[in-house]
Amino acid sequence: MFDGLKAIVGENGWRNRENAQRYFEDPRDRFHGLSQLVVLPKSTEQVAEIVTFCASNRIGIVPYSGGTGVVAGQLSIDREDNVLLSLERMDAVREVALDDGVIVVEAGCILADIQSAADEAGMVFPLSMASEGSCRIGGNLATNAGGIQVLRYGNARDLCLGIEAIMPDGSILRELAALRKNSTGYDMRHLLIGSEGTLGIITAATLQLKQKNPENLTVLCALSTPADAVSLLHQLRADVGDVLSAFELLSHVGLEILERIFPNEISPFSEPHDWYVLIEAAGAVGLRDKLEQALGDTIESSLVLDAVVAESESQRDALWRLREMMPEANRLSGAICNSDTSVPISKIEAFIDETVRALAAIDSALTINCYGHVGDGNIHCNVFPPPGLSKAEMLDKQADKIESIRMAINETTHSCNGSISAEHGIGRLKVTDLQHYGSAAKLTVMRQIKSALDPHNIMNPGALFPLEEVSN
Ligand code: LAC
Ligand code: ZN
Repeated sequence: MFDGLKAIVGENGWRNRENAQRYFEDPRDRFHGLSQLVVLPKSTEQVAEIVTFCASNRIGIVPYSGGTGVVAGQLSIDREDNVLLSLERMDAVREVALDDGVIVVEAGCILADIQSAADEAGMVFPLSMASEGSCRIGGNLATNAGGIQVLRYGNARDLCLGIEAIMPDGSILRELAALRKNSTGYDMRHLLIGSEGTLGIITAATLQLKQKNPENLTVLCALSTPADAVSLLHQLRADVGDVLSAFELLSHVGLEILERIFPNEISPFSEPHDWYVLIEAAGAVGLRDKLEQALGDTIESSLVLDAVVAESESQRDALWRLREMMPEANRLSGAICNSDTSVPISKIEAFIDETVRALAAIDSALTINCYGHVGDGNIHCNVFPPPGLSKAEMLDKQADKIESIRMAINETTHSCNGSISAEHGIGRLKVTDLQHYGSAAKLTVMRQIKSALDPHNIMNPGALFPLEEVSN
């Protein structure tokens, strides 16, 4: 059966398990992929041929992008007979069209390479996240990824003007035109973005470029509470306008974990504080003066307890490493749970307080590191075993407790009108959670769309929906 697929992609276009282990590994070591074959097409037409073949032979296809996803959307964890389809050989920048303000890229482009291509053209592609050196735009779009600049530029969906995709019957949908306005019925782009490969495979995209700004400022502020971070966001926006591109929450607990795992990455403050925000701003000439003035006012009113402004590129990088290395520090420190919660910005403090209370009721010795994106309400709660217990021991002996922790965070998310997946997707990890928290009407329509477009359930089977729920 797989011979037909190998023939489509040719000699160098496929790998099997033995020589390509990395495709079957989970960045957080919780899951193992079971597929036997990875195909690596070189063109849109090859992807279409693969999908047509799989549709005729009822072979499940799991799209694989940068492999950085943390919800097992890119791993076939319950079936050996699905084929992995990696788009990494389709990594061309097809066009930079400055008059249209867009860049057209293939799905396998690494996010950082798109940022560099935009930079070379004198523009900015602002989608940005810790994994940008290895994640690929197809996966960013499939999960509607967000990252650190959503408050100013929006998420992957907001930055995408058009897509090219292969539909489940193998047909090619070509909708790459750089149109800002297009009111012609259902928008297939928005249907496919965020669908995690369950409705089609995105092979290329037209992405919006933004203007470069002549001045920027990076500052780390110390604060008493997350609510103060929200007040600071509102106050700075009122004072200096729409110039804030990142507004990232960190805590004393988080910085302690980071300093323990990466001893070179240390807080620039002599005294520890409970909470911090890392702010990035960019704007017209004069921005630095205006923002420093506005920050001075917030220090005078004691909203901000202390602040460090980066005076050089290397200081800026050092401040950003405190934030960007946090997920890796959490992983290496043995986090047993990593939430991807979003709540209305006004509920950030309530969400953190209620989560800490609920987790203390489960076990008062747990360590909790809440950090994330204040500007869009996306807070990641990372939970660590009590002192003396490792992640492996806890997984082995207290798996029920880990599940209670996950559910407690889901419940506080729900009680704050939040989302259980802000930017990482549902994948296979959160299928049951979506069934539990998704409204009946939404779940019914999702199932109807899935069965109409992919009646044989060949597109990423097991992701988003329970396997048994959609026909095969
Ligand atoms: C972050 C990832 C975990 O914000 O979403 O670091
Ligand atoms: Zn995040």
